[in-house]
Amino acid sequence: MVDHLFADTYLAALYDAWHPRSERDDYDFYLPRIMSAESVLDVGCGTGVLLADARRRGHRGRLCGLDPATGMLERARRRQDVEWVLGDLATTRWARPFDLIVMTGHAFQAIVADEELKAFAAAVRQMLAPGGRFAFETRNPAARAWERWRPENAVSVRGPEGEDVTITTRIVAGFDGDAVSFIHTFTGDHPALPLVSRSTLRFLDGDGVDRLLRGAGLAVEERFGDFQGGPFVADSPEIITVARAEP
Ligand SMILES: C[S@@+](CC[C@H](N)C(=O)[O-])C[C@H]1O[C@@H](n2cnc3c(N)ncnc32)[C@H](O)[C@@H]1O
Repeated sequence: MVDHLFADTYLAALYDAWHPRSERDDYDFYLPRIMSAESVLDVGCGTGVLLADARRRGHRGRLCGLDPATGMLERARRRQDVEWVLGDLATTRWARPFDLIVMTGHAFQAIVADEELKAFAAAVRQMLAPGGRFAFETRNPAARAWERWRPENAVSVRGPEGEDVTITTRIVAGFDGDAVSFIHTFTGDHPALPLVSRSTLRFLDGDGVDRLLRGAGLAVEERFGDFQGGPFVADSPEIITVARAEP
């Protein structure tokens, strides 16, 4: 089931204010790869900012964004020069495969169960053209990002109608070796508020990512530990992987 955070129209509008393009160094990492690929699928595309940016910068090929959350996709659909599809990879197929599949904003971590992860990786492999690539990131569990997801680190964001929104995060089930569950609470002076959203994110380590990809016929080609292209080391914040479809 999709998190309220992404299905709700108000929260989807808040997402772009909370994560503005100017602070998305991950997009700066993925964009050159997108610009040099003829056909690109963005899985978990959210509000569609990444592919919209690629089109704006002159990408002339096939750009397709896929997301299971109505709130997020509604926003993406405001732009009509990209193909937007409501759904997930388990249930959606295209007649033509893609040269590049990307998954950004840690959307990969929303796939929690082992069986779902395996089915997802197999679907990625199936939707890649020969030699096509899958580029994505997942937070490195060794960096323990969830330790900062605490009420005292609440953030304030300007909402879609100019209102101040406070976003508070509280862990409800700590890291158990696999996943972390937490609650976001959104408060502020707006009729849509307060809102609460519960999420669970999976934290695979580097070996777990490699095993998953290998099992699906995807060979790791590049690995980075941050979006500046730094090497992956034990306590890197990110596990950023570019994998190639094996013949
Ligand atoms: C944190 S947002 C990231 C959105 C966008 N990729 C970005 O970089 O800002 C996570 C997105 O993953 C989507 N998502 C959740 N479960 C998914 C799944 N099983 N397959 C694909 N996308 C999923 C959510 O609906 C949401 O839009």
